[in-house]
Amino acid sequence: MLKSIRRWKYLLLGLLLAGLGTAWPRLTHPTPAQPLAFPHALHLRAGLHCTDCHRYAAESASAGLPSVRECALCHARLRTQTPLVRKALAYAQRGIEIPWRRVYRYPASAHLRFPHNMHIAAGFACSTCHGDMRGVTTARLWKPLNMGVCITCHRQYGAKTECQNCHD
Ligand code: HEC
Ligand code: HEC
Ligand code: HEC
Ligand code: HEC
Ligand code: HEC
Repeated sequence: MLKSIRRWKYLLLGLLLAGLGTAWPRLTHPTPAQPLAFPHALHLRAGLHCTDCHRYAAESASAGLPSVRECALCHARLRTQTPLVRKALAYAQRGIEIPWRRVYRYPASAHLRFPHNMHIAAGFACSTCHGDMRGVTTARLWKPLNMGVCITCHRQYGAKTECQNCHD
């Protein structure tokens, strides 16, 4: 009797540890469940550049997400019959954007200003803030871009650190 209780304890402890083991990467690098498992890795391997899809990063504050019409333009001829591509094309046919869940965006209530273009012009690669995406399916939070991250780099490069620079 005592023995079997002890065995249960170890089993429970084991299950708890296994649970933590699978939850930990998700807790530290949360990836929101997306409507479609868009494969960054495959597109990058095919030679596409970040700004082929996030085309406003160098010119304006937001990088922007590609419209489903852009998926349809390329996939009208390419890989037209795979289940994922068909799912994307179905959105395009109905004229509905794919409802991506956002990964990095601050809530509007935070009143933050982050100009992508100025950081690209200053010579930073996308990977400085978003990590290496070459092994990634849908985007994951590589590291939280909190105030400490911004200020540390701004100090290092002599960029502005006054509050109103980043906060409206
Ligand atoms: C500029 C052209 C281009 C655009 C835009 C584009 N793709 Fe692709 N896509 C490709 C290429 C090239 C491949 C890789 C094909 C290969 O490896 O044979 C690919 C592969 C894929 C695959 C993998 C195919 C499979 O095995 O299921 C999926 C899924 C996919 N794309 C979905 C999308 C979605 C969704 C969008 C829009 C958000 C999109 N693509 C936008 C060119 C594009
Ligand atoms: C210095 C850090 C930094 C660099 C470099 C950077 N980003 Fe970002 N990125 C951010 C931050 C911070 C946000 C959230 C911005 C917000 O909510 O206003 C973001 C948001 C995004 C988003 C979400 C959509 C959007 O329009 O905001 C995309 C896509 C994106 N970045 C792509 C890129 C690409 C592609 C590059 C390289 C061309 C890049 N980023 C370079 C920090 C960076
Ligand atoms: C073929 C088009 C395509 C290419 C090329 C591409 N992306 Fe994306 N990207 C997307 C789509 C579609 C999403 C929305 C789904 C997701 O979150 O993964 C996205 C999402 C993102 C996000 C998260 C945006 C958010 O919600 O905050 C970041 C950051 C990002 N991409 C960075 C990059 C970087 C860096 C590169 C180059 C290394 C790149 N992407 C190349 C299509 C693309
Ligand atoms: C890797 C370094 C780095 C990181 C991380 C970084 N920045 Fe910057 N940022 C710079 C540099 C360098 C400049 C100056 C660019 C110039 O003057 O041309 C700059 C410029 C800016 C500007 C424009 C300032 C002006 O002159 O009007 C704003 C706003 C800004 N950053 C906000 C942010 C925010 C918000 C974050 C965090 C989410 C952030 N930055 C993260 C390096 C960084
Ligand atoms: C270089 C950009 C930058 C500067 C300069 C800056 N902040 Fe922030 N601040 C941020 C970012 C980014 C966040 C959002 C952090 C998050 O959501 O994780 C933030 C968040 C905050 C918050 C919300 C609480 C929190 O920690 O999330 C407060 C309060 C705040 N900042 C006050 C200030 C004050 C006061 C100053 C001037 C002394 C200042 N900030 C200067 C970028 C900046």
